[in-house]
Amino acid sequence: MSINKEIKRITTETIRSMKGKEKISMLTSYDFTIAQMVDAGGIDAILVGDSASNVMAGHETTLPITLDQMIYHAQSVVRGAKRALVVVDLPFGTYQSDPQRALDSAVRIMKESGAHAVKLEGGKEIEKSVKRIINAGIPVMGHLGLTPQSIYQFGTYKVRAKEEAEAQKLIDDAKLLEDLGAFSVVMEKIPAALAKKVTESISIPTIGIGAGAHCDGQVLVVHDMLGMTHEFSPKFLRRYLSLYDEITGAVQQYVQDVKSVDFPNENEQY
Ligand code: KIV
Repeated sequence: MSINKEIKRITTETIRSMKGKEKISMLTSYDFTIAQMVDAGGIDAILVGDSASNVMAGHETTLPITLDQMIYHAQSVVRGAKRALVVVDLPFGTYQSDPQRALDSAVRIMKESGAHAVKLEGGKEIEKSVKRIINAGIPVMGHLGLTPQSIYQFGTYKVRAKEEAEAQKLIDDAKLLEDLGAFSVVMEKIPAALAKKVTESISIPTIGIGAGAHCDGQVLVVHDMLGMTHEFSPKFLRRYLSLYDEITGAVQQYVQDVKSVDFPNENEQY
């Protein structure tokens, strides 16, 4: 745990250098206040995930969130994160069509938010986009396995790459991302044995979510690990707080205090 102590800002190079030495911790954040707390807790990297579409906006999938909305979330997070590396998801539809569009989207995120890297979902299909972005000097994090932007193709949020062909494609895609110059890759909801194999076969860090303990790091959606979302309970999720219950309870108490004229009391007025 000594690497980070002397370092002011975690960079993509720091993340790369942690492989095999120290596990990488990553959480999502979407706003200034949470980002400040996550950063103060000593997190290595913050992901401004397009899961904002679910947990912030209440959409069923990540597909509806726009580039402008992602930039707004990213700007707020960057203001709150003094030490962590900030990575921002390129939202659905902003990088798949052609490499120039992908670069334009990534440039907007970097210029307008002040974030440090972008994340894209996919491998071979988006090879040219990844290459174009990296050639422009923008660090890229990959994302393989259960890629939520493809949910309508998958039809289910079940574990991916259990079959040989999909597992082999994932291995090939991880290698491709490494060759293209990605600085790390997220692997979501795949068998732990496959995640181990990939982790051992590439030189860049793997960050798992529902991908077992052998990944070089772990990422969770902050609202899930804090127990703010209460209906989402996948096997891989560890909840560190039960904020849904805590907050609902506090609101109930406030309502009761207002109705009974207990609040405000003499000391709480001018
Ligand atoms: O958007 C997100 O929160 C993510 C994580 C689940 C890795 O991509």
